[in-house]
Amino acid sequence: MSGAPLAGRVAVVTGGASGIGYALAEGLGQRGAAVLVADLRGAEAAAARLRDAGIAAAGIDADVASESDTAAMVAAAEREFGGLDILVNNAGIYATLTPQPFERLDIAEWRRVLDVNVIGVFLCCRAALPAMRRRGGGRVINISSGVAFKGNPYMAHYVASKGAVVSLTRALATEMGRDKVLVNSVAPGFTLSDGVHRNPALVAGVKEPSLRGRVLARDMVPADLVGAACFFAGPDAAFVTGQTLVVDGGAYY
Ligand code: NAI
Repeated sequence: MSGAPLAGRVAVVTGGASGIGYALAEGLGQRGAAVLVADLRGAEAAAARLRDAGIAAAGIDADVASESDTAAMVAAAEREFGGLDILVNNAGIYATLTPQPFERLDIAEWRRVLDVNVIGVFLCCRAALPAMRRRGGGRVINISSGVAFKGNPYMAHYVASKGAVVSLTRALATEMGRDKVLVNSVAPGFTLSDGVHRNPALVAGVKEPSLRGRVLARDMVPADLVGAACFFAGPDAAFVTGQTLVVDGGAYY
């Protein structure tokens, strides 16, 4: 795929085996990047689907909340494809959560949400930086959420974690910039991902209200996020860092 905007680039997409992550892996691959899918499960199967679509892809089982797994993930990108240029921190806990008033939220669940959604981003960035330095720079795209700006009832831990991702994006941009690594974030609105489809309570509670409160009145799907992520990964964003782009079809609810 020479002539494609991301030709010669190597991307790692965490949580890339399903949902938004898979769509982003496919989008980066269609623009010429080689893609390592990293996920708790299903990474190799997802990579095989990408290869069937003509994309250079590999998969690795990895938990973003594990230091050793994030190190192994970066090593795999270098081993399989010779380096690392683009890190998409997409893995997150959302669709498996049960909405609860904050007084009833379980402290162990709070900790796991922060471990994966926030510390996971930190660990992946820390593991990736030396590899990106070796390439003379890189791009980090963190998947936050529109709820970081609006708040949302009954998911205080999740909302707080995504607010932290927006702030972490700005903080890491100030530090990683000296190595020419640009750090930006895409903040999706409610998206009908694989995980969301598996949680009927979430679909029942959020789908209709988010549709009613959206300027572009249709359901949002993972493919709607590909353009924004690929912009941050590509040459047109060469002077953009620390930013969060909300992609939600114009939500005003
Ligand atoms: P999903 O459930 O369809 O996919 C999430 C993927 O992440 C799964 O393949 C899962 O195995 C993987 N994963 C979970 N924990 C992991 C860990 N510790 N290490 C590695 N992989 C892990 O979810 P979806 O909806 O595609 O969400 C992707 C990201 O987008 C998440 O960060 C989520 O918070 C964010 N987001 C989703 C929205 C939505 O409405 N679906 C809205 C705003 C943000």
